[in-house]
Amino acid sequence: MDLGLNGKRAIITGGSRGIGKQCALALAREGVHVCIAARTQETLNQALTEINQTGPKGHAVAADLTTQANCERVVQAAIDRFGGVDILVNNVGAARNADILELSPELIEDALALKTYSYLRMSQLVIPSMKENRWGRIINIAGSAGTSPTRGNIPTGAANITILNITRALSDAVAADGILVNTVCPGLTNTGRARTQQGARAEREGRDVEELLQALGQELPAGRIAEPEEVANVVTFLASEACSYMFGTALYMDGGKRRATP
Ligand SMILES: NC(=O)c1ccc[n+]([C@@H]2O[C@H](COP(=O)([O-])OP(=O)(O)OC[C@H]3O[C@@H](n4cnc5c(N)ncnc54)[C@H](OP(=O)(O)O)[C@@H]3O)[C@@H](O)[C@H]2O)c1
Repeated sequence: MDLGLNGKRAIITGGSRGIGKQCALALAREGVHVCIAARTQETLNQALTEINQTGPKGHAVAADLTTQANCERVVQAAIDRFGGVDILVNNVGAARNADILELSPELIEDALALKTYSYLRMSQLVIPSMKENRWGRIINIAGSAGTSPTRGNIPTGAANITILNITRALSDAVAADGILVNTVCPGLTNTGRARTQQGARAEREGRDVEELLQALGQELPAGRIAEPEEVANVVTFLASEACSYMFGTALYMDGGKRRATP
């Protein structure tokens, strides 16, 4: 299948590690100019080296994406470097969770401030460039916690469910301009974040976190947790010309865990 991605220009937030980095590499492999943003210069540099070995020369911007000013800086840097933005992968997220009986509202605030607000801000900032070309793809990485609340995942879930709402509303607002906005909801995925998230439980239960992740994977119909490359493959399709009739939808990649239909 010709994905029609060669020469397109993308921003990937949280693109230095985990799912974001694999999205950047997968897009670079298709000839996309990628701009990655995250806070830590060292990991950005490492990711950029890999990107430059994979596809067109990329760009990296060190920025904490919790502020409007830094979101603006990232989008401006991509426009200055590449001349515009065709694809935005909103991926950044680092929510801290706690049991609902001890949950401080500040943790919900923090989760929204980084993930949900940056997704909204970054989308608003790239849409003018996409409108100019009457072509654009915005892919939001949410997560299955948005529609599967538990007593321990409310900050993550609050951020994700709001992103699902934003996805639908943004899609309605820009569909006529040739811009497709969709969400991917991964389940547990083999990244540093999965280890941070499950670390507390592993410690509480006196287990090794790697053994816990393997056991959690075995409980799924898939028999294992997801690899970030698998999420990146779906993101690459959603970013492509081949994806031409999906508007405001959410794709679940949770190894078959979700019970709801569809
Ligand atoms: N892994 C999972 O099991 C899983 C499941 C469902 C959904 N997700 C979602 O998938 C997305 C990616 O998760 P991941 O597992 O790939 O995470 P990860 O491996 O922890 O990577 C997170 C990325 O975000 C960057 N980042 C964190 N805080 C930032 C900030 N304030 N400003 C700018 N960049 C920041 C990190 O770099 P710096 O730390 O250097 O800034 C890094 O590049 C998240 O939205 C997460 O909620 C993950």
